[in-house]
Amino acid sequence: MREMAGLTLEGVTKRFGSTTAVDAVDIRVADGEFLAVLGPSGCGKTTLLRLIAGFERPDGGTLAIGNTVVSGPRTFVPPERRRVGIVFQSYALWPHMTVEGNVGYPLRTAGVKGGAYRARVEAALASVGLTGYGVRRPAELSGGQRQRVALARCLVMEPSLMLLDEPLANLDVHLRASMEAEFAAFHAKTRATMVYITHDQSEAMALADRIAVMDGGRVVQVATPRTLYREPATAMVAGFIGRGALVPVTVETAEDGGRVRVAWERGTAIVRAAPGRRPGPGLLCVRPEDLAVGETGAPGTVRRVVYKGGATAVEVDVGGVTLALSVPEGAVPHPGQSLRIAVTDGWIVPAAADDLTPATAAFRPEAAVREASPAA
Ligand SMILES: Nc1ncnc2c1ncn2[C@@H]1O[C@H](COP(=O)(O)OP(=O)(O)OP(=O)(O)O)[C@@H](O)[C@H]1O
Ligand SMILES: [Mg+2]
Repeated sequence: MREMAGLTLEGVTKRFGSTTAVDAVDIRVADGEFLAVLGPSGCGKTTLLRLIAGFERPDGGTLAIGNTVVSGPRTFVPPERRRVGIVFQSYALWPHMTVEGNVGYPLRTAGVKGGAYRARVEAALASVGLTGYGVRRPAELSGGQRQRVALARCLVMEPSLMLLDEPLANLDVHLRASMEAEFAAFHAKTRATMVYITHDQSEAMALADRIAVMDGGRVVQVATPRTLYREPATAMVAGFIGRGALVPVTVETAEDGGRVRVAWERGTAIVRAAPGRRPGPGLLCVRPEDLAVGETGAPGTVRRVVYKGGATAVEVDVGGVTLALSVPEGAVPHPGQSLRIAVTDGWIVPAAADDLTPATAAFRPEAAVREASPAA
């Protein structure tokens, strides 16, 4: 019954004065796919969503929903004819209307009445676990319940494409977790195509088939959560996704199994790299699980020890580079302690030459040690 609602963006660009909010973005979202869009504040996420919804007209490029071009050089389909469901970060409920009034609003606008109207409102409320709440007003609901009303209002139109802009941003940790589960269940049930904006990487990783990472209006990488974590395309992605460090190294020789031998100030290691990686300077992304405390390895000094519940995060200074690792209970060192760190794995960031400027090649604590903790 449902229409095909894949999404194709080609060279989509939007400028506000001298700001290029969205810069030549190419993305293909398969029908039924859950795509998360992740990136720092101001990188263009909301503008991208507004372009897809039709609230903004692109300055360049083409945007198609299913097989229909909705924005292009000579085409512009208005938002109400794109048949997309949208959930904004601020729930934007009408305070004077009941829950039922809010959820049914798009149906009334579309002229749906009587039994069909009541049945669809009931079904939408049931799907977000709010059966029986129809007579309440938004002020009589918790934040999470309001968020679910906003979701029900989107679901009631049975959209085949849903756009969600940080829908969980205002919720506490526990509510976020349960709403995350609801989004996952909803997606599994409907197979609606979802574009889900967040700046929370753990949320993106938990929900999405693929994640598009944006930076300065551009999409820098679109990949599965696992690939983003293990094989970041740029230094920005490496620092933004997961914990870890970026270490300037020299790629020396190719080894078996697509790996390369690298040398850095404090030793050598065998690490992963993209096929065809040539010798020369590079940036090594090392995650906590790529490091081991041992008898051999680079000498370092413990700088910081943070208990994370279960494991303990330890930052070790090794020749001016801060490496982040995770140690189990019972093996926790103390600040100032000397130890040796072996690099057992890592990934050579396949960065363009301009990504290797000293500013990014140097360790950036704020980026590389950013927490992956879901409780953040
Ligand atoms: N209507 C507008 N007029 C002028 N500039 C705008 C407008 N909307 C957005 N911008 C600018 O475009 C850029 C991208 O904004 P956008 O809202 O898309 O970012 P975002 O990634 O959603 O950020 P956040 O995570 O903070 O919500 C920013 O520099 C912003 O200031
Ligand atoms: Mg935004």
